[in-house]
Amino acid sequence: MSKALISTFSEKLIAWHARSGRSGLPWQGNRDPYAVWASEIMLQQTQVATVLERYPRFMKRFPTVKKLAAADIDDVLAEWAGLGYYSRARNLHACAKQVMDEFAGHFPNDPLLLEQLKGIGRSTAGAIAAFAFHERAPILDANVKRILARLFAVEGALQDKTVNDDLWQLAIQLLPTKPQDMPVYTQALMDFGATWCTARKPVCLSTEKKCPFEKQCQANLSDQVLLLPKKVVKAKSPEFDCDMLLIRAGNSILLQKRPSRAIWGGLWSLPESAWVAKASSKKVIPSLAILMKTALPKEPSAPWLKACKAVKAGPQIKHVFTHRRLWMQIWETSAKTRLEPDSENLKWISLTQLGRYGLPQPIKILLQGLSLVHDGDLKN
Ligand code: ADE
Repeated sequence: MSKALISTFSEKLIAWHARSGRSGLPWQGNRDPYAVWASEIMLQQTQVATVLERYPRFMKRFPTVKKLAAADIDDVLAEWAGLGYYSRARNLHACAKQVMDEFAGHFPNDPLLLEQLKGIGRSTAGAIAAFAFHERAPILDANVKRILARLFAVEGALQDKTVNDDLWQLAIQLLPTKPQDMPVYTQALMDFGATWCTARKPVCLSTEKKCPFEKQCQANLSDQVLLLPKKVVKAKSPEFDCDMLLIRAGNSILLQKRPSRAIWGGLWSLPESAWVAKASSKKVIPSLAILMKTALPKEPSAPWLKACKAVKAGPQIKHVFTHRRLWMQIWETSAKTRLEPDSENLKWISLTQLGRYGLPQPIKILLQGLSLVHDGDLKN
C-alpha cells in the first residue's frame, strides 16, 4: 500500500478543491448541525440541482429542529413531496423528535451517537460531524468507495464485509491531521467523486483535465479504472400490476392515506388493489363492484355503488422503484353525491388543495393533469 499516497492525499485533495471543487452551495460554510443534517439527508438520493431549489424552501418552512419535531408528519411529507424516498422524510421527523427528547434539542457531535439517530448511517454521521463539529470522522458513500477502490486497486466486491471494513480503515487513514480542515476535505471528497472520479467518465480517461492522483492511482497505472470497483450484476427488479380507483366528485378526488410502513408510506394516494405479479396477458375491464371490493374493502359497497357511474379505463402509469417496477392501471368514475367515507384514512380532497398533501409523484402528476371544471353531477 502506498504510504506516500496516504500521507499526501488530504493535502492534494484540498488543493484540488480550491481549483475545481464546488463552492457557494447554500449548505456550505454553515456549522449549524440542524442545517447540515437536513442538507445531508436531502442530498442522499437527490441531485444537487434539485436540492438547491428545495433545501432553502425546507429550511424556511422548518427553520429549527424544534419546529420540525413539533410539525405534523403530514406537513413534513407534503414539503418532501417530489423528492422521493419518503422514508427519509419520516426518519427526518422521527430524528428531530429524538434530538429534542434525548439530546435537549442539540445534535451530538460524536459520530457514534449521531449514528444512533433515525435515518443517519455511518457515512452521514461522519459528514455531519465533520461539517458541523470539525470532528475527524470519515465518510464512505458510494462515490468515496469508488475513489478508494481505484486509488488502491481494491479488487473485492464492495458488498463484502471485509472489503467494506478495509475501505473504512483506509478512509480513516486518509483523514487530514488538522480538525479545522475536515469540512473542506469532506466536501472535496464528495465533489471529487461526483465530478472527476465518476463511474463512467473519469477525467483520467479524457485529455481535458489532469487528475492530481494520476501517477499514484493503482487503477490508472494498471489501466483498470473502468473495471474498478467491480460491478455486481443486478437481477432485473420484479414487475407488479395494480388497479387504482380515481373517483371524482366535482372538483374533489377520493384519496387514501397509505399505511406508514408501506411504499410511499404516509402519503395520500388513490385507493388501490393489492399488487400482483405482472400478468403478460391483456387485462379484462373489472366491474366497479370488484374494484370497490379490492381497493376499498372496508367501505360498505352498496352506497358507493349507487353513487358512482360505471368505470372507464384511464391511463396506465409505470413507476420504477429501486427494487421493483409498478404498473398502475387507473380506473375512472365519478360519484353523484359526495358520500363521506367511513374510514378516517379516506378523504375527499379538492384538486385545488392537493398542494397541501404529500402525494406520490406519479399520482400528483396525474391529478394535476385533471380538469378543474365541475362535471355538473354533484348534488352536495
Ligand atoms: N452529497 C451528499 N452530501 C453532499 C454535499 N455536502 N455536497 C454535495 N453533494 C453531497
